[in-house]
Amino acid sequence: QEEAMASQQNQRALHAIVLPHPLQGHITPLLHLSQKLASSYNVAITFVVTQHIFSKMQITSHPLIKLVGLADNLPQDHPRQSTFADSYEAVMGLEIPTDSLLQELSSQNQLPSFIIADTFVTWAQKLALKYSIPRVAFATTNVTAFAVMSSTSKLIDLGILPLKTVNGSSKYVDQLITCFPFLPPLQPHDIPVSLRSPSVSHYRMQFVMAQFAELSKAVTVMVNSVTELEKTVLENLEHKVPTFCIGPTLRLGGENFLLQKTGMRTSLLPEQEDCLPWLDKQGSGSVLYVSFGSIANLEKAQLVELASGLGASNQPFLWVIRPGSFEGSLSDVLPVGFSERTRNRGYIVSWCPQLLVLSHRALGGFMTHCGWNSILENLCLGGVPMICWPHEAEQALNARVIVDIWKVGLKVKKEEDGIVKLEEVERVVRAVMCEEGAKELKDKAIELGKVAKRAVEEGGSSLKNIEKVLEVVSNTKA
Ligand code: UDX
Repeated sequence: QEEAMASQQNQRALHAIVLPHPLQGHITPLLHLSQKLASSYNVAITFVVTQHIFSKMQITSHPLIKLVGLADNLPQDHPRQSTFADSYEAVMGLEIPTDSLLQELSSQNQLPSFIIADTFVTWAQKLALKYSIPRVAFATTNVTAFAVMSSTSKLIDLGILPLKTVNGSSKYVDQLITCFPFLPPLQPHDIPVSLRSPSVSHYRMQFVMAQFAELSKAVTVMVNSVTELEKTVLENLEHKVPTFCIGPTLRLGGENFLLQKTGMRTSLLPEQEDCLPWLDKQGSGSVLYVSFGSIANLEKAQLVELASGLGASNQPFLWVIRPGSFEGSLSDVLPVGFSERTRNRGYIVSWCPQLLVLSHRALGGFMTHCGWNSILENLCLGGVPMICWPHEAEQALNARVIVDIWKVGLKVKKEEDGIVKLEEVERVVRAVMCEEGAKELKDKAIELGKVAKRAVEEGGSSLKNIEKVLEVVSNTKA
């Protein structure tokens, strides 16, 4: 008991500087985790973002959470969040200002006791060493993607990377990648986008390798996933740093997961709440929710095919079309007659309160880009069958997990030119919304959701893991 009290005492004094990668899908889970650390473990949090993101944040902080916006030293008109490349420049721009912040805190004798840094924040390790504070790495992906990304050097040694293309075109040479015992054989396009770089020296491939080189010096890794959902992968991890699943972060607040109740909002874009009364008017399980997350863009030709497919499906749908995710104005891009044809059963928003949408009784299916946050949110809130349409990052790998391992969704088929045609949209929508097999997908999704929720309840594996990480940082010097 004395030991437990001493450890509690230790934890009371903890202060973490939290360094997310400056993109929505990375900020959200770290905000949830910060909220949990502050409210349940009395950890003071200094949450560092770019000034650009700071100006968009609507968070009402816990008294122990301090939000800090730092200049990223990029020009005023830099797009910052439009593409991965932009966000990469923004995160790199944060190194010097974060160093200055730590220097200032050090001079006031208020140096944080540890750093929680997104795996993307490669320079965090250098600062951890400079200020002699332990660094915990945080992965926003699942363990599967984490394991594949951490095997980059191995894939290069095996001659799999860089992926071979047909006569210098953008088409990959057919090959099956079978070196991961925890995955079915992968196709080249299942590999995360960064690893599909044309050469080993490409900055995205180098960035992944830098992440894992730095991460090997971290004291622990936290992954926003659930031990029970990824046991085999965890057992097969090749790197040596103790790795703990601590998710799903969105449920760390227990039943307060709907952010309205905690007063903490994570969206960087204004949420269009008018879709909620519209959902209220729809039949149970009748609506398809269509959203491709915070970074994916759609070409005009693709947007037209998707709109036409949704139109032809005769199914009610709620569609998020993010500003800037397509070129031109929406009324010019959508097919002629689309609005009239779908007037009573289609609703388009620029951004929505996704947690409330996913937990709505009207939802029947989710056409998703397979961002990891969205997948976990769906499992924990509604558990509707998913139509997987991966775009960016590690989303194609997530789609393989959903379709081939968990069996809670179907994947869209692309044509040779990469486009998903109207008929294919119609086919998959019907398959998850109307056909018998959908019930099996849904039951499985609900079952996985239960497993995920249990992990963050009292005594659950993720809560125990958070406590282990706090124990480690309490007892470590960098
Ligand atoms: C990317 C990667 O694909 C993901 O796997 C990685 O872990 C983080 O970055 P992103 O495009 O941001 O993902 O998607 P996702 O991970 O699903 O995160 C999007 C977040 O935005 C979710 O938390 C979702 O609830 C929120 N969202 C999305 C809204 O609040 N409203 C919307 O209208 C759409």
